[in-house]
Amino acid sequence: MDALGEPQAVLVLGGTSEIALATVRLLPRGRLRRVVLAGRPSASLDEAVASLTAAGIPGVVTQAFDATDTDSHGGIIDSVFDAGDIDVVLLAFGLLGDQAEAESDPNAAVLVATTNYTGAVSVSLHVARRLRQQGHGALVVLSSVAGDRGRRSNYVYGSTKAGLDTFAQGLGDALHGSGASVLVVRPGFVRTKMTTGMKEAPMTVDAEDVGAVIVSALRKGRETVYAPGPLLFVMTALKSMPRAVFRKLPM
Ligand SMILES: NC(=O)c1ccc[n+]([C@@H]2O[C@H](COP(=O)([O-])OP(=O)(O)OC[C@H]3O[C@@H](n4cnc5c(N)ncnc54)[C@H](OP(=O)(O)O)[C@@H]3O)[C@@H](O)[C@H]2O)c1
Repeated sequence: MDALGEPQAVLVLGGTSEIALATVRLLPRGRLRRVVLAGRPSASLDEAVASLTAAGIPGVVTQAFDATDTDSHGGIIDSVFDAGDIDVVLLAFGLLGDQAEAESDPNAAVLVATTNYTGAVSVSLHVARRLRQQGHGALVVLSSVAGDRGRRSNYVYGSTKAGLDTFAQGLGDALHGSGASVLVVRPGFVRTKMTTGMKEAPMTVDAEDVGAVIVSALRKGRETVYAPGPLLFVMTALKSMPRAVFRKLPM
């Protein structure tokens, strides 16, 4: 199944996400006429519109959206879909947070959890409702390898991605047969503003590399994909490693 085809309309949740913007730039352009960048109003969001427009992508507009304001999600998603069918939704918002800060201030951990998990669950269910109604379209969920196994260095963030990943897998199964689909994407370390200043991990890639993986996975109708792909083998090995050994790894 080709879940991508020639998309006419795309919704990005997390409109300034470098991974999402790189993905939009790589989508087939033939029939593309509407790109909605949903995010918190800011100069960065306006710059994202300008950069996609300058790249020749037509119909790029903004939509105010805050992942933590779950009461607003239904109205926002309805207004975007009421204006026309959406073929691809990229759920790309997220907070990495700071593990040490989260441990000393649980409110900081709650913000990461609320944004990455609660906000994503809320908006995904509204998106799924509309995708099911239209009978086509793909929801792409940015999970992370950090959700594959709890790690001392980032278990608050990792746990939000584990929850989101499990949720998105189930949502994909719930939509099976409706014509709509869910693609779960598990990137490793990606060079974006989220990771600026951090020590790069093995198999680090650029946002464009993840975008290429997403576009290819949509074309092939994949349901789960690692970015880069070979991380699947690394994570499979890491997941089966005894806890006492895993704990000592410098990660
Ligand atoms: N970079 C990596 O190494 C990596 C690895 C694995 C997974 N991922 C995941 O991939 C996704 C995209 O990451 P990225 O690297 O493209 O990061 P990014 O460029 O920092 O983008 C993160 C996005 O999240 C948005 N956001 C944060 N809190 C929000 C809120 N309350 N409401 C609405 N939007 C909010 C930001 O909007 P503002 O402009 O308003 O801040 C920004 O658009 C994230 O889910 C991330 O967890 C990233």
